[in-house]
Amino acid sequence: MLKRRLFTPGPVPVPDRVRLAMAQPIVHHRAGDFIPIFQACRTGLQRMFQTQCPVLIFAASGTGAMDAAVSNLLSPGDHALVIRGGKFGERWAEICEAYGLRTTCIDVEWGRGVEPARVEEALDRNPDIKAVYVQASETSTASCHPVREIAEIVRRSDDRLMVVDAITAVGVYDVPMDDWGLDIVVSGSQKAFMMPPGLAFMGVSERAQRFMQSAESPHFYFDLAKELKSLPTDQTSWTPAVGLLMGLAESLRIILDEVGLEETWSRTAKLAHATRESMRAIGLELLSPDSPSPACTAVRVPEGVDGPALRSYLRDELGYTLADGQGALKGKIFRLAHLGYFDRFDTIACIAAIEMALSAVGYVHKMGEATRTATELLRD
Ligand SMILES: Cc1ncc(COP(=O)(O)O)c(C=O)c1O
Repeated sequence: MLKRRLFTPGPVPVPDRVRLAMAQPIVHHRAGDFIPIFQACRTGLQRMFQTQCPVLIFAASGTGAMDAAVSNLLSPGDHALVIRGGKFGERWAEICEAYGLRTTCIDVEWGRGVEPARVEEALDRNPDIKAVYVQASETSTASCHPVREIAEIVRRSDDRLMVVDAITAVGVYDVPMDDWGLDIVVSGSQKAFMMPPGLAFMGVSERAQRFMQSAESPHFYFDLAKELKSLPTDQTSWTPAVGLLMGLAESLRIILDEVGLEETWSRTAKLAHATRESMRAIGLELLSPDSPSPACTAVRVPEGVDGPALRSYLRDELGYTLADGQGALKGKIFRLAHLGYFDRFDTIACIAAIEMALSAVGYVHKMGEATRTATELLRD
């Protein structure tokens, strides 16, 4: 018997209670039954995002909200600054270019966080920059950018937006939208929300709402002004993903009212720390040792080991699906998740599986050492 276990940094496993909530009969979205479901979602999301600002919900993957965060805020020819330190930083740049923005990129070595001084310098040199686009947690490299410090620099002007892809940061660690003065914060259901893919979320500040009024980029489906108008009446512009919203209301109840948001952050951080230390204990190197994200850990495939063979063994022989590297890192790293519905026993067992797989593909190490390290660190 082979049990399938999903360990990718999105999608993540979905708790049974959430799956059952999604199995309830579908209600009509323009009828009264829908109102309490939607209210629970929008107020729960505000708590997750730590904001008093509206948080919009789209039937889309996270990239849909990223697209909206460009098309609704700026006009062709406007100047944007992108922090490009991984696959998703590249995505910001691609979206900005698709909408005809003048895009300046700060290229950051994959696996590192940007130095805030580089952002400061770029903004000083280009005072016409209207928005800064960054990842809080760059999932492709399992690293974090210092969003708080960057926001402090961006906030020196009121005529500039700070747009944060926090797709693997909201519900993972502390990224308080209002306290840090973030204008747009984007996330997605298949991450810390313990949900299937299909919903994108977006917190929108008052400053961003001001920018929206003069933005001239074309858009239709993702129309923030239209959504913001519908939100107070507990409606969305188009047919919402009703089944997913029923699941979201349940997952938010678990995270916010039963487990607790801070407890969720601290559990995730502990799992991440134990994983990093356990990999080091058997001589493996991390891709991002200096600014690791708690969302997932990226481990370098050791010299002489076939990366795809390692992940195939994990998946086909042991039932564990881990993520590959993306872009230039394909086959060179493997990534395992900590965000979402994972507890310490999930993590310890996954580390044991990694040891078994490493040994099967010829990596010589003291068998059990990583598992022992993780067990020690997660004992209490
Ligand atoms: C940091 C980050 N940004 C953007 C995305 C893209 O989101 P989606 O695949 O939901 O469109 C992901 C998804 O893995 C992500 O982790």
